[in-house]
Amino acid sequence: MKKVFQLAALALVVAGCGCGMSPQDRLTLNDKKINEIIAQMTLEEKVEMLHSKTNMSSEGVPRLGIQDIKYTDGPFGIREENGDGFRPLGWTLDSATYFPTGSALAATWSKEMARKNGWAMGKEGRLRGKDIILGPAINIQRLPVGGRTYEYLSEDPVLAARLSVEYTIGSQEAGTAVCLKHYALNNQETDRGSVNVIADERTMREIYLKPFEAAIKEGGAMCVMPAYNKVNGYYCSENAHLNNEILRGEWGFKGMTVSDWGGTHSTMGAALGGLCVQMTGDNYFGQALIDSVRNGALPESVVDDKVREILRLRFAIEPVPEDVANTIMTSQPETQQVAYEIAQKSIVLLKNEGNLPISKEVKKIAVIGQNAVLTTAAGGIGAGVKTLYEISPLEGIQKRAAEAGVEVAYAPGYKNYKMRMGWGRPAAGPVDPLTANSTDEPADPALLAEAVALAKDADMVIFFGGTNKSIETEGSDRKNIDLPCGQNEVIKALYEANPNVATVLISGGPTDLRFLEPYSPAIVQGWWNGLEGGTALAEVLFGDIAPSGKLPFTFPKKLEDSPAYALGNFGQNASEDLFTLMYRLDATGYTREQIQEYIANLPDPVSEYKEGILVGYRWYDTKEVPVMFAFGHGLSYVDFEYGPLACKKKKDRFLVTFELKNTGKMEADEVVQLYVRRIDSKVERPFKELKAFDRITLKAGEAKKVTLEFSASELAHWDIDTNGWVLEPGKIEILVGSASDDIRQRIETDIRL
Ligand code: BGC
Repeated sequence: MKKVFQLAALALVVAGCGCGMSPQDRLTLNDKKINEIIAQMTLEEKVEMLHSKTNMSSEGVPRLGIQDIKYTDGPFGIREENGDGFRPLGWTLDSATYFPTGSALAATWSKEMARKNGWAMGKEGRLRGKDIILGPAINIQRLPVGGRTYEYLSEDPVLAARLSVEYTIGSQEAGTAVCLKHYALNNQETDRGSVNVIADERTMREIYLKPFEAAIKEGGAMCVMPAYNKVNGYYCSENAHLNNEILRGEWGFKGMTVSDWGGTHSTMGAALGGLCVQMTGDNYFGQALIDSVRNGALPESVVDDKVREILRLRFAIEPVPEDVANTIMTSQPETQQVAYEIAQKSIVLLKNEGNLPISKEVKKIAVIGQNAVLTTAAGGIGAGVKTLYEISPLEGIQKRAAEAGVEVAYAPGYKNYKMRMGWGRPAAGPVDPLTANSTDEPADPALLAEAVALAKDADMVIFFGGTNKSIETEGSDRKNIDLPCGQNEVIKALYEANPNVATVLISGGPTDLRFLEPYSPAIVQGWWNGLEGGTALAEVLFGDIAPSGKLPFTFPKKLEDSPAYALGNFGQNASEDLFTLMYRLDATGYTREQIQEYIANLPDPVSEYKEGILVGYRWYDTKEVPVMFAFGHGLSYVDFEYGPLACKKKKDRFLVTFELKNTGKMEADEVVQLYVRRIDSKVERPFKELKAFDRITLKAGEAKKVTLEFSASELAHWDIDTNGWVLEPGKIEILVGSASDDIRQRIETDIRL
């Protein structure tokens, strides 16, 4: 293993140290050598680099000894080895670590955890001989129903940006490049292959592009994946405004772009619109590209620019030699440890009337609900992980309960909506009696009766509800956010049988808890939490550690309250999903030509982001719409006291200091959050916006001085008239607290120019 990392270090030496240069400019250190290489290459050799070689690789320059580029899906587990398609090869050493999914990582609000997550992914990527991880996935969670909410980080651009930067640095330091995806405004799965997203420039800049901008400028991300959708009329893979003007022009990106799989739609459009590599296929960036150059339509220099950008990444990331890659298991104890630490910090205590932690008096627990035994690594399409192992919630609870001498009984409680695993057709055969055919199927009377009997006989009930990866998945959005398969009926019956109930929600996105909440005195958001998720959950439930996760998105009371729904601008009449078609190539034998014809004739729906900058809590706060659980919310087993704020200005930075005290009886982490409210702004603003946060560990009774800082430039808005950032002077109120709806201290100051 050592050799792999030595090689990564060597890559930096080859490139020189680049001290004092921006992370992007450092990528240009080998440009002289790269230009010499390009000068020796034929047009055919160059174009060979600009499309897929296999489903997960693109060609190097074999004649000159330059290796292919090998890609792997992330973002929270290195994907199992597939053939030239998506069918697993059945290797024995390719079991990876399943890390907590995107929204779980974001719930830690921890830059340190994001850095470690990136690092661990990068390490496992190298063990598998990969150059680029297709991740992190950093789109803003615009819709509560979003099929990829669980992959994405947050509804807030500052939280998503900070974590994206750290993940990027971590992975690239370990020697594997990241590929930020999906650039940009891929916020719905419905018609993702062709939907035309209409968003104004201010909305794009202040909300949707922020995480990408930060990961590129501060993190030095080497690769970007233009998304499937269109933005303001142009496919992302040929969107010159996004790729050339903003990404390369304004942000100084020096790396390469690779289209999402099947997301390239033209030769000239994509060539001039900033795409480097067509994934997958070569119908646009193969012979057609050669012809375009030969007949004078496209200058060869455009092709050279793409080759240069690819080679910059190739020289920054040392290829792992064939005889070094895949010699030991992908998942290793030190990377599993990272997944475990993230899981410990991600679990969110949403509500607690004293039922948690589990009292010493509890001698028998009834664990009810199939989500307690569900494993969550596989499924969900591209982001599924072949994990080395996975501790389910029930296993975690059983192990911990045994140590405490507590008895655990389990009943499935409800049928679960059928899991669609793997890439082939669903297996034929008898329907499993524990499987529901639709998410609205009511509770099964026999399962319900069995669960109620267990609840009556126990001192406490832990109910596992939520969704699964067939309900929340790439390729489609949920129809609603209701708890599926009669879970509401089950919780009511359980509560009536035994009111000492705690609910654990196993899901990646928000659910409608209006019915459940009165019947559940404690509620925990347990996420899809990686291979040690069950262990971490048991530690929280039994009070070994205090819960410390905070919501990275809002739980609205009802779906209709959320901005896109309230404004009626999210249509859900989807056509067939583009990626699902691509995997049918494996499953049903469609020809590549048939699929390409389908892609060429995709429908043309529009999604207009009429809510503008009022995304997530920015909307609920500004429009005074009550929510179930607010952005940033998360309780602990202790209380924290926030002292008064002092605000100092240092050049263009605001430094806000206060004392934070843990007044409880155990060590705990608090995520402190700083929001800014503009008092006298002349332009439309959300009521308040997150500007800084930190995670602080405090022993029982301990107090610490905390400083949160942000720069004035982060308070600038994008001015539509001048098409640039403008910092408006005026009064601001700084709000510091434990959640967006739990502000403890405030102070006024101003911005003077
Ligand atoms: C997804 C990407 C993924 C790619 C390769 C696409 O359908 O949108 O996130 O990286 O497939 O599997």
